[in-house]
Amino acid sequence: MSSLCFVSQQPPRRKSQTTVPPDWRAEVERVLISGAQLAARVKQLAEKIEIDFGGREMVVISVLNGTVLFIADLIRHLNLPLRLDFVGVSSYGAGTKSGDLIFTKELRLDVAARDVLLVDDILDTGKTMTRVLAKIKALKPRRIKTCVLLDKPERRTERIQADYVGFQIPDQFVVGYGLDFAECYRNLPFVGVLHPHVYQAEISPKKVRALNG
Ligand code: IMP
Ligand code: MG
Repeated sequence: MSSLCFVSQQPPRRKSQTTVPPDWRAEVERVLISGAQLAARVKQLAEKIEIDFGGREMVVISVLNGTVLFIADLIRHLNLPLRLDFVGVSSYGAGTKSGDLIFTKELRLDVAARDVLLVDDILDTGKTMTRVLAKIKALKPRRIKTCVLLDKPERRTERIQADYVGFQIPDQFVVGYGLDFAECYRNLPFVGVLHPHVYQAEISPKKVRALNG
């Protein structure tokens, strides 16, 4: 898809952008996407979405909790009338493997006959997006487009692709810029690869930090 932006095709970055800050080195192996790369790409995505929606009023539906930073940055660049709503879906519990889906927050806005943009943090197996998409389609929007910050195509089990993709990434567990492991690391201003020892340890990230000094 032409809107894809592969991490491997990014221009070389300054060392300060690729180095994990000292406070996070025990848990985060490397920076995969820097804050500057995120900012530039999110702006590009918004520009594309704005053109495609042609100035029509839209309802943006953001999947909690992983989208919080992404959606805040994305809608700031969308210069068209929009309303924002959230759905809550929990799929992972405290692990890194896809599990059963639970809806933790339902949609409140009426989307019937509206233009909808569904936003999630990452398309992994595709189970979450497939399930949420089916639920929203049943409400009969005029049209619906999907947008994800990250796409891990290697892990896909469902036949689904997003209309707008920030970055395609390899099959590695990433955290930061909203993405978590056991509800931690959402606040990192970059997307980083988690050291496998953090999720293999089966202890809390806080304890891993303590063990690593
Ligand atoms: P899927 O249903 O398997 O596509 O998974 C989608 C959800 O799993 C995302 O919304 C994330 O919350 C979570 N997820 C998938 N991969 C990662 C990752 O590498 N880091 C953090 N969360 C992830
Ligand atoms: Mg999520």
